Amino acid sequence: MFSNQLFGIGLFCLSLLKSSRCDEEACGPSRWRTPALPPDNRFLITVNTLGDKYIPNQQHEVLLQSRNKGDTFIAFTISLLGDKEENPRNQRRPKSLLPGQLYPAGEDIVVQKNCNNTLIEADIRPKSAVKALWVAPAKGNKCVTIYAVVAVMVDVWYSHEGPLSRKVCENERKAEDMQPHENNNCQACEEARYQMLFMGMWSPNTHPLMFPESVHLARFSDVVGASHNQNFNLFKYNSEATPGLKMLAEQGNTTTLEMEIQEDLGQNVRTLIRATGPHNTSSTTVSSFRVSPEKHVVSIATALLPSPDWFLGVSNLELCDVRTNQWAPNVTLNLYPLDAGTDSGLNFESSNEETLPHHPISSANIANVPQDKMKPFARLRFTLIRTYTKPKCLDVTTTTEGEKGDGGDINEVVPSSVDREDVPRWRETTPKSDEVETEESTEPSLPPQCQSALSAWTAWQPCAGRCAGGRISGMAFRYREFRNRKSEKECFDLVPITYYTDYKECVEDCSETTTELVEE
Ligand SMILES: *[C@@H]1O[C@H](CO)[C@@H](O)[C@H](O)[C@H]1NC(C)=O
Ligand SMILES: *[C@@H]1O[C@H](CO)[C@@H](O)[C@H](O)[C@H]1NC(C)=O
Ligand SMILES: *[C@@H]1O[C@H](CO)[C@@H](O)[C@H](O)[C@H]1NC(C)=O
Ligand SMILES: *[C@@H]1O[C@H](CO)[C@@H](O)[C@H](O)[C@H]1NC(C)=O
Repeated sequence: MFSNQLFGIGLFCLSLLKSSRCDEEACGPSRWRTPALPPDNRFLITVNTLGDKYIPNQQHEVLLQSRNKGDTFIAFTISLLGDKEENPRNQRRPKSLLPGQLYPAGEDIVVQKNCNNTLIEADIRPKSAVKALWVAPAKGNKCVTIYAVVAVMVDVWYSHEGPLSRKVCENERKAEDMQPHENNNCQACEEARYQMLFMGMWSPNTHPLMFPESVHLARFSDVVGASHNQNFNLFKYNSEATPGLKMLAEQGNTTTLEMEIQEDLGQNVRTLIRATGPHNTSSTTVSSFRVSPEKHVVSIATALLPSPDWFLGVSNLELCDVRTNQWAPNVTLNLYPLDAGTDSGLNFESSNEETLPHHPISSANIANVPQDKMKPFARLRFTLIRTYTKPKCLDVTTTTEGEKGDGGDINEVVPSSVDREDVPRWRETTPKSDEVETEESTEPSLPPQCQSALSAWTAWQPCAGRCAGGRISGMAFRYREFRNRKSEKECFDLVPITYYTDYKECVEDCSETTTELVEE
């Protein structure tokens, strides 16, 4: 009915692109003279912000696309609408805030002539997606609406409501509150090792409303996590907790969560990460772990104790920097409490009260303190401590005469893809695949009095990983810890590490019985 009425009626400005009449057209959708059709769910606009919050001055990607590749559009307009702020001098004339700046990204999209911040099609060939870049405004500009109208044929166009409009607001948190952007195309060639520092920042002074009444009972559980690829999730915001995360969040017991991670070792998981909970809620614990070009994100969790089901953590933190496509030299992230959605208690000391059905994981509401008024409970810092050079990552042509004169040690050759500045001193070659890799870097030198306070290494645990085709290809672990709390305390100020994990890659045959052992 609509198309009958509208198709072919009125002038379609696009077909007259060169005419002066068109140049006079107003910016945005008014270049079409027919009324808009109600929004159509086939098309949508997305902005790659975290949870509809933009980062001031940072570039974000805007995508206008059809949900279904078969649905195409020929023309479109993408525009920005800034927020308004009350004007104390003139109530009737609110102050306009800045919306930032839009740029085309691709050959099929251009800036509309004489129209600021309006992008349109370069030609009217059918398309199913176009991309633009949006540089968000500076701090203090509140919310911006990014919207599009699309025309599926001449003068048949859809208004910008619903899925064609996206309102994003300023993220008022600091950079350290935001996870780096995900990198779906990590180009790092080498494996790398990172040190993880978990710094507790939770105390009755910093969190007077958000600390257990029984102050002396407050603690973090052990810190558990993994480096992995996108097919593994320790937990997922807005999804239900796994049994392992439920157990961690409610009881501080990491056993099941560790088993969940071990099940994916050698498949989607590169390293199981484990550190003893920090000594008190404002001290630090350390661990280190390996990442690979395929497994370059890290997830971590630790329970807030006592609490119904509150925990701190991060899911899929990117270590392969999306800008350089190489290992990030360091990444810091503040942690705020999350709610595992499995226990309905409202206070730290609430008795157990199973939430049925379980709720999805969300931000924890503790004492009704709003998120933006909260101080971080802990800070994670990941520092690149070493990379493992592979022959294929070395570009021998970069070797200079001088380096050759030094003996031409292959370990000193800098891969062309890495800035020399960023190359750590202890770059090493990866052992041949059939050698057992020793992980000296997990055990920093200890003062003698602490050395003796540590237990001996446990025996190597059985090779852990998934049994497939009669073979396990995974990791074996052994542990070493302080013999007692007192010696831990004495050594803590010297080396803030209370627990050591050592591990090696392993390949073992697995019969039916060993499979059961591993997957128990
Ligand atoms: C377009 O917008 C940018 C930023 O919002 C502004 O700096 C510039 O002066 C505007 N140009 C015109 C012609 O309005
Ligand atoms: C953690 O849970 C496991 C499995 O239920 C149990 O065997 C273990 O004793 C628990 N650990 C602690 C410290 O309670
Ligand atoms: C926590 O431990 C650190 C040393 O590790 C110490 O300086 C600090 O005073 C302790 N805090 C509390 C509240 O005991
Ligand atoms: C972290 O890395 C950045 C470069 O990305 C550097 O400027 C900064 O100094 C580093 N910070 C620390 C604590 O190493």
